[in-house]
Amino acid sequence: MIRPTASVVRLLAAAALALGLALAAQTPGEAHKAITSKYLFNEDMFPLFRDRCGRCHVDGGVAPMSLLTHEDASPWAESLRLEFLSEEPAPPWHQMTLTPRELDMMLVWANGGTPRGDASKPPPPVKLVNEWAQGAPDVPLRLPAPFTLEATANEASHEVVLPLTAAAGRTIGAVDLLPGNPAIVRSAVLKLKTADGDTRDLGTWMPGRTTAVVLAAPVKIAAGASLTAPIEYRRTWKYEGQMLTDHSAVGLYDAGARRATPSARPAPGAARP
Ligand code: HEC
Repeated sequence: MIRPTASVVRLLAAAALALGLALAAQTPGEAHKAITSKYLFNEDMFPLFRDRCGRCHVDGGVAPMSLLTHEDASPWAESLRLEFLSEEPAPPWHQMTLTPRELDMMLVWANGGTPRGDASKPPPPVKLVNEWAQGAPDVPLRLPAPFTLEATANEASHEVVLPLTAAAGRTIGAVDLLPGNPAIVRSAVLKLKTADGDTRDLGTWMPGRTTAVVLAAPVKIAAGASLTAPIEYRRTWKYEGQMLTDHSAVGLYDAGARRATPSARPAPGAARP
């Protein structure tokens, strides 16, 4: 009989450990995974997810899943790691600056068994906030017609033309879009078209913004002008096979007007009057 040498024993132990780690990594959030994270969902992760991700990752939001309960967030631990710690450039909706501490918390929690924390202190339920980012615009305009994303289409680009008759003569400093169906409106490149057909870009709207789109310079709206925009729609797997309708609105803000600062807007899930 061959006696295993010390180095073979070490090798086997290392292999067993690696296998154990690999298995653990494949089953994130499962009850039997060792809890090594000092960060807990209810105490530490919920405020982070609410403030940094909750504008989109909330039921009814543009992202496919909520991250605002322990049950909803835990299964995404591995995917979260891949998304935020990869070298790949982030997709447009994830181009945010997370602090090193926020990244560290996500990594530690995702790798460390996604602990819930004190079960007697669950976080408050969070509802989607679908409001003008900067308060009611001076000129709110509903798009002329609703748009339907057919059940068979996963994405669509829809060109809208909105006459600006109601805003003629005003000087505009910012413009915003309020999605009718926040789950599917992905982006809109807002342009101003004059009566003689010249167009200029005003800016690009994306979901989850905390301010309106501020124009590079104020623009006077002449008679006969209209706002045009290709609006990009996309469904996530959550709405597979459903017919979905959107009727968004565009808002214009007078140049130089004093506005509520974004920080005056309550965070989703924060106490609201
Ligand atoms: C501006 C909106 C927005 C914000 C803010 C946002 N996300 Fe997302 N996220 C999305 C969208 C949209 C998708 C789905 C993209 C798709 O597949 O079409 C997504 C997808 C994901 C996915 C799934 C990737 C996969 O495997 O398919 C993870 C994980 C994720 N987000 C984590 C986060 C975390 C964590 C935060 C906060 C630190 C965050 N997101 C902030 C919009 C957002």
